[in-house]
Amino acid sequence: MIFQKNYKRLLDKIEETLASAVRIDTPKKLRESMNYTLLSGGKRLRPLLYLAVIEAYGYAPDKSDFDVASAIECVHAYSLIHDDLPCMDDDDFRRGKPTNHKVFGEAIALLSGDGLLTLAFELLAKASLMDGKYAKIMHKIAESVGACGMIAGQSMEFDGEITDTKRLLCINGLKTGKLIQSAFVCGCLSTQKSDDLNIWQEIGYKFGQAFQICDDLLDERKDENSLVAKIGRTEAEKILYTVEAEIESLLDKLNIDGQFIKSIAKTFLFRSTDSIKEYVTT
Ligand code: IPE
Ligand code: IPE
Ligand code: MG
Ligand code: MG
Repeated sequence: MIFQKNYKRLLDKIEETLASAVRIDTPKKLRESMNYTLLSGGKRLRPLLYLAVIEAYGYAPDKSDFDVASAIECVHAYSLIHDDLPCMDDDDFRRGKPTNHKVFGEAIALLSGDGLLTLAFELLAKASLMDGKYAKIMHKIAESVGACGMIAGQSMEFDGEITDTKRLLCINGLKTGKLIQSAFVCGCLSTQKSDDLNIWQEIGYKFGQAFQICDDLLDERKDENSLVAKIGRTEAEKILYTVEAEIESLLDKLNIDGQFIKSIAKTFLFRSTDSIKEYVTT
């Protein structure tokens, strides 16, 4: 099956690169805290999308592309550590394990998030020194996850009661959508197919929105401030089917082999579990 085969192949390479991302001379407790979240069974969706876009054009991702893929996952891991903190969502469990601050304490969790974010930009800078096209990628990622992107969305959640559907869509597009969208767009930037950027931008926006809807559908705590709580599960599921069809037709407009990306959408937008074991058969 197209998904299984390609997912396993890329996942193995992503895990291998991530395993050595945190420098060995990082203070022991900080290193353990950073690796606790970075290496603890995430689906690796964002690096996967970045690499899948490059492969869809028929190219083989090189060493710098794997550094970019790792950087994207480091940003994601940092965002999760901070998102779970008592001052944010105050969550005790993630991926079936105690959250980072529950194991390492709030101060180290805060700092390991800082460390992962900085590490991401060290990796992106390293790739940029090899080839100028990665400087564009670094800029795209910085703009996507900064105070007008992911952090804007996160901050808006704590800015009074949210009841308006339009505002919920905007928050989802920022807090979750922006990083996912940048993975697609940066994949395209790596291939230098600049005529296709707008289509990837659109695919990324739709995928990001749908991914948060799926995350909310899976969330057992049923967050009262989520879009799903506002529009109801049936309506939310309908959106997922519409978005999947829209992504397929956008992919069909490109001169690429879009089969694997279509299979990623099918698998991760309609998932009923986040347990990585369900997606990889050995
Ligand atoms: C969870 O993202 C948080 C959101 C931004 C919705 P993922 O579902 O990609 O998290 P992991 O890394 O696979 O656990
Ligand atoms: C997470 O959103 C968004 C970021 C980490 C940037 P949520 O708070 O809705 O996601 P979960 O449910 O904790 O994974
Ligand atoms: Mg949150
Ligand atoms: Mg949360």
